Amino acid sequence: MPIVSGANGQKIASSLANIMDMEHVIMEDRRFPDGEGYVRLPNDAIESVRSEKVILVSNTFPDSEILKTILLLNSIKDVRKGDLVNLKGEEPQNLEDVGPGIILAIPYYGYSRQDKRFSKGEVVSAEVIGKLLTNYCDGMVILDLHEQSVLEKLNFPIEFVSSMPEIADKLSRDVMPDFILSPDKGAIKRASEVARIIGCEFSYLEKTRIDAHTIEHTPKNLDVSGKIVAIVDDMISTGGTICRASDALRRQGALEVHAACTHGLFTGGAITKMANHVDGVYSTDSLSNPRAVVESANALSRGIKKLI
Ligand code: R5P
Repeated sequence: MPIVSGANGQKIASSLANIMDMEHVIMEDRRFPDGEGYVRLPNDAIESVRSEKVILVSNTFPDSEILKTILLLNSIKDVRKGDLVNLKGEEPQNLEDVGPGIILAIPYYGYSRQDKRFSKGEVVSAEVIGKLLTNYCDGMVILDLHEQSVLEKLNFPIEFVSSMPEIADKLSRDVMPDFILSPDKGAIKRASEVARIIGCEFSYLEKTRIDAHTIEHTPKNLDVSGKIVAIVDDMISTGGTICRASDALRRQGALEVHAACTHGLFTGGAITKMANHVDGVYSTDSLSNPRAVVESANALSRGIKKLI
């Protein structure tokens, strides 16, 4: 089964191909001088893409990669449909349609946080992206989606997978935490899973987001004095959530505070900002960043196996 990628999914697709002992097909993926994208499946991959189910690894972040993902999926779809006619007419070919079998594996699903209509007139962006993608593939595997219920209602085959087992493994090797903290209620399921795997204490904070850069935590007594604590979240963007949670932990006597997440967006100097608040930051490689120390391919491989 070929694991296909454009530029953005290349590293993860290569790991996935290793883990699953499959062929890695790298698609031609470049930009024209005006910024428009161009993709093409290489000739020598056409046979394998038609003869077996195929997995495309692609992020829907940043915005340009949403369109790129759709182009990549369409290229694969045309080849599987047997639509290989080219306009120059050099090798006109209409082959047999080999049917469904395109799986999209998404390490980081952009727009996942707009999963509700928080105010009248808003669009539920996470659902819009999901609906769009269902037109071009036959199933999806999504890593640590912020809130999976938003896509569950699409009635489409989706495997939701999590990197929490790998994050727990990394933390227990490098940090040996005594205590895992979820920085808000939304991360309780993921962070408590890490605590359960490691076998350490767990608690959570209640967070109110004032705006994109400002959050507040409701004060809470945490039994962290003299303890090594790891804060676990699905994603870190500005780092504000982690910095505020860390401050609360330090005030209550935590000895060390570390932060771990699946998706390290690290926007606006987040890594520098967090360096003043935490002792270490760990993320998966779902997005390329300087703290990507956990492979996301393991979790994706679990979802792919389940889906196929
Ligand atoms: C939101 O609920 C997410 O789980 C994260 O807590 C949030 O996106 C982190 O954002 P930031 O790093 O900007 O505080």
